[in-house]
Amino acid sequence: MTRIGIFDSGLGGLTVLRELIKTNKASYFYFGDTLRVPYGGREKEEIISFAEDIVDYLENYNIDYYIIACNTISVLATDILKEKYNKDFIPITDMGLRASLACDGDFLVLGTKTTVNSHFYKNNIEKLKDAKVYEVAATKLVDLIESGTLDEENLKFYLDDYLQIANEKKIPNIILACTHYPIIRDSIEKRLTYKANIIDPASYASKFLKSDDENLDINIFMSKKTTATENLIGKILSSPYKLTYTEEV
Ligand code: DGL
Repeated sequence: MTRIGIFDSGLGGLTVLRELIKTNKASYFYFGDTLRVPYGGREKEEIISFAEDIVDYLENYNIDYYIIACNTISVLATDILKEKYNKDFIPITDMGLRASLACDGDFLVLGTKTTVNSHFYKNNIEKLKDAKVYEVAATKLVDLIESGTLDEENLKFYLDDYLQIANEKKIPNIILACTHYPIIRDSIEKRLTYKANIIDPASYASKFLKSDDENLDINIFMSKKTTATENLIGKILSSPYKLTYTEEV
């Protein structure tokens, strides 16, 4: 069996796992750091050290290679992790970039403060395409999602603010540059006053990955049991999984 490690600051990366298992059977080992989420906005050194804690944990499971499901970790730690563990780490941001390069028109990047401040998508897309890339740090969304009780009114309030530029300029492509956002994709689409092309890097990742094992096996580790883990995991994943709360990283 191919053993794939996949990790995120919390539950968001399950949206990546959900897409991967549609087309790729393998043994998956997912770690969500629900104890220390959110990562977006934290110091670079702290995020790198958290990512190393997660990989140290997953290394106990003989992982063949990793998918960094978190955009925030991807933009800060990919090279450091590759060098330290001498294994392949596929950053979700590369998947998002490849998916975006196939689309025409301007882009809005919706991400955490860290992802937006890295300008990863903006710099790369504007270098390679004749397109303008707008960026919005949607800082409140991860907290709202991880709280486990999505208050629609509250969500609308923030979304109308974060999507204002998209609605004003009718930006054709919106990159969901944070793995938590696909969880509220319907709400995002409802708050847009026009039809945008929503780019979910996870969809591209599921086509990019090539694993044709016979069986699917899903192991999930969460560093803390929360209202959100109880409410959301089963809603995001429809395949059977084994869940362990580590209460540490
Ligand atoms: N889900 C993560 C991402 O893709 C970050 C969420 C957070 O912890 O701030 O960027």
